[in-house]
Amino acid sequence: MSSVTLNAPKFDLKPYKSLPNEELQARINAVRRELGRRLLILGHHYQQDEVIALADHTGDSYQLSQLAAENRQCRHIAFCGVHFMAETADILSNRPQKLAERDGERVTVILPDMAAGCSMADMAAIHQIESAWDQLAEVVDVGDITPVTYINSAASLKAFVGRNGGIVCTSSNAKAALEWAFARTRRVMFFPDQHLGRNTAMGLGIPLEEMPLWDPYAADLGGNAGEQIERSRVILWKGHCSVHQMFQPEHVAAFRKNHPGIKILVHPECPREVFELADEFGSTGKIIKTVEGAPPGTKWAIGTELHLVNRLKQQHPEQEIHFLSPVVCMCATMYRIDLAHLAWSLENLVAGTPVNVIEVDEETAKWSLAALERMLEVR
Ligand code: 13P
Ligand code: SF4
Repeated sequence: MSSVTLNAPKFDLKPYKSLPNEELQARINAVRRELGRRLLILGHHYQQDEVIALADHTGDSYQLSQLAAENRQCRHIAFCGVHFMAETADILSNRPQKLAERDGERVTVILPDMAAGCSMADMAAIHQIESAWDQLAEVVDVGDITPVTYINSAASLKAFVGRNGGIVCTSSNAKAALEWAFARTRRVMFFPDQHLGRNTAMGLGIPLEEMPLWDPYAADLGGNAGEQIERSRVILWKGHCSVHQMFQPEHVAAFRKNHPGIKILVHPECPREVFELADEFGSTGKIIKTVEGAPPGTKWAIGTELHLVNRLKQQHPEQEIHFLSPVVCMCATMYRIDLAHLAWSLENLVAGTPVNVIEVDEETAKWSLAALERMLEVR
C-alpha cells in the first residue's frame, strides 16, 4: 500500500466544493502562514493556474524530484501533481539519510485528490512486468538487459528496476539514462511509455527493427517472435500518454502550411510520426525555457498539455503561441487537483488529521530509491 489514512478527517471535503475561490485562496494562505517553511507546496507545470499561483515551486518531474530530495526545512509536502510524483517525493524526502538528519521525523507527503493518477502509469502493472521479465529469461540472458522505467510509473515498478540494476528516467534525462544503461548491457527494457522510449532510442541511432513492442495482453513474448527478441536492443512496453497521443502529423502539416516560419515544439511523449516532424522537443521545463529564450515575434505550435500552453500564451504576448491540436488535450487527472481539495487537505493537515497521505512501504521505497538515485545522478 502506498497511502495511509491516520485518523478520520476532521473536516469533510463536501463543504469546500461550494466555497468561492477567493475564500479557498485565503484559507490556503492562512495555512501557509501558520506552517511557514515547514510546508512546501509543489506544483507540476500541467496544474491549473489557480493552483500554480499558490505553489512554492513549480517544475517538471525531474525538477520536482530534486526539490523533494534537497529540501531541508519542510516537514510537509502538498504535491499538486499526480500519484507517481507524490510517491517519488515520499521516497526521496524520507530516504534513510534524510530521516537520520531529522532524528527520524518523517516528511508527510499529501496528494490533495487521490484520484489524481496517470493513465500511462496504469498501463504497466508490476505483475505484468515480472511476467514479461520471466518470459524474456526463456529467450535471452536477462543479466544483459537493463530495465529503465519512466518516472511515470508506480513505485513497485521503480523497485523492480532498482532490484535489477536499472534506472528511472524522466523526459529531461531519458537520453542520458539510455546511454547509462547501454554502457552496462546490450539490451534495455523500457516501460511504460513506448513513445519516449522509441523517440529517445532513435536519437541514439537504434533502428526500429531492433525495438520490438511488448504487448502485455498478447499470449506469448508480448506478441513477438523469439528472433525479434534476440535481435532487440530496446524492448518497448506498449503504453502511451492519452493526452500526447492526440497530436497528429496532419496538425503539424496544417500549421506549417498556414503559418510559414512556425516552429513546432513537442513533448517527447508524442508519437514518433509527430516527434520526427518537430523542430524542438523537451520536458515541460525545457519547453518553458525554450519559449522564454526565444526572440519576440517567434511563432510556435506546441504539442503538450493545454494548461501549460495556455499559460505560456498569456505570459509571452510578444510571441505567437498556438496549441498544436485542434481538439482539447488536457490531463484530466492533473486537473483533479483544485483549490477545494488543496484547502481541505491542508486544513486537515494543520488539524492533525492528515488526509491522502502517500507513504511507500519500506521495502519498495528502499529499492525504488536505488533507481531514483541513479536518475538524479544521470543528466
Ligand atoms: P515532465 O517531466 O516533462 O514534466 O512530464 C511529466 C508528464 O507527465 C508529461 O506528461
Ligand atoms: Fe500521465 Fe499523460 Fe497526464 Fe502526464 S499528461 S500525467 S503522462 S496522463
